[in-house]
Amino acid sequence: MGIIPSPAQAEKISQTPPRGMESDLSKLANSLVTKIHVLMRISQIYDSKNVALHQFIKESLETINALVKREGAFSLKIIKDDFFLNDQRMRYSVEGFTSFKYLLTQWKKRLIGEVIFKSQVDERTLREFIYSLINLEEGREENATLFNEQLASRDVTSIEVNPLELSEEDEEGFTLEKEDPREAGKKVFFETIGTIKEVITNIKGEQHADIRKLKRLAQKAVHLVVEDESILLGMTTIKNYDEYTFNHSVNVSIYSLAIGKRLGLSKKTLTELGITALLHDIGKSKIPREIVNKPGSLNEEEWALMKRHPLMGVEIVLNLKQLGEINPRMVIGIFDHHLQSDLSGYPKLFRKQGVSLFGRIIQIADAYDAMTTPRIYKKVPYTPEQALAIMLRERTVHFDSALLKIFIGLVGIYPIGSLVLLNTHEVGIVYKPSHDPRWLDRPTVIIVDRDKKGDVRKEVVNLADTVGGGHYKRSIVKTLDPQQYHIDIAKYFL
Ligand SMILES: [Fe+2]
Ligand SMILES: [Fe+2]
Repeated sequence: MGIIPSPAQAEKISQTPPRGMESDLSKLANSLVTKIHVLMRISQIYDSKNVALHQFIKESLETINALVKREGAFSLKIIKDDFFLNDQRMRYSVEGFTSFKYLLTQWKKRLIGEVIFKSQVDERTLREFIYSLINLEEGREENATLFNEQLASRDVTSIEVNPLELSEEDEEGFTLEKEDPREAGKKVFFETIGTIKEVITNIKGEQHADIRKLKRLAQKAVHLVVEDESILLGMTTIKNYDEYTFNHSVNVSIYSLAIGKRLGLSKKTLTELGITALLHDIGKSKIPREIVNKPGSLNEEEWALMKRHPLMGVEIVLNLKQLGEINPRMVIGIFDHHLQSDLSGYPKLFRKQGVSLFGRIIQIADAYDAMTTPRIYKKVPYTPEQALAIMLRERTVHFDSALLKIFIGLVGIYPIGSLVLLNTHEVGIVYKPSHDPRWLDRPTVIIVDRDKKGDVRKEVVNLADTVGGGHYKRSIVKTLDPQQYHIDIAKYFL
């Protein structure tokens, strides 16, 4: 529900296109956000009758009533990550940023998206409003209705609220839908690699690291994975030897999201899982490069240091400025991603406890990506099916068997990026696993053909396709090692 603009306002809106706010209005609006921020903070310290509140309430009333006088009535509304005062986007000063962020977070938590000041407000009204707001239960959908009922029961008629519209996720989804999903996938993939690189570099240099950007990218990745996981899974075939750390974080995140999707986790939980996976090895940024990238085996001392990376990761995450974006299960996921299902991994625990869900998912994703990527100490990696076979063999010690089963179902018998020989003597690259469990051995493949210049993309075929009489046109005979055939698999996914 919006508000009815005053005649003067209506005229103003119809005559002028959307533009920046006039400076005195902008000042008042910024002051309003700061005042409400202060009031919300103070109301958590003092009870509503406390005299110490009087001065703050008085100052806030001056701002609110000045706005009512000027605008007739006004609404302060959240759209996506911005505040709008009477449908005009607010600009924030550097000093005002903390207040804006606080209000945005606190209102969103309580699912309140708009506050309308309909007429002049008095001290009692403002006290009622602030305390009702602060006492709202977080995440309760009926909050706006309950809030309005509460205000009405206390004879407050000058203030009204509306629920939060359209979540951030929906907004992201909306913008992505218009794009070609494959293009969107590429963009998210490379942007995330760039961002994680930035975060790691900043942490190394003890500088401020922006986690919110990672969160936004994780949300986009979640949207893509929910729509069609094969796009981002295809990107994991890009095994960048030089930038292993960044690539690895992103790949682990993609595999983790795909497992999480199969588990039916909510978009919110998936986003948290995605960020946790992106940050799972962040502790390694505090370990000297020579040790992390050492070609030979580590000595006892180096290995002891290496084993501290989960704990160091926890420490880094807990010291992040935007700790608000991180919740306990994300911290625990970083802590126990090397614990292993029989708790034989590290860090050593004083008390036996199970590995968290995030930890168990990341372990599988981590092992698979590490095994299938060339490393300085193992230049020829395992093929996808070799890696899966090893993981299956070691499942009772290292992995959660149920989750491993899900993972294998997800990457298929022939994981995305596998090189396969067909009964037609053609060579193909697995492009997309079949969604139908009956055809796990019949993925969509790209038939690759070589001309004088090298490999060229020939044709995308679905191995579930049949010819007359129900015979399959093509079937997989066996998998091949791409290293031996000198085929750059990743090229076919870009
Ligand atoms: Fe790790
Ligand atoms: Fe890792």
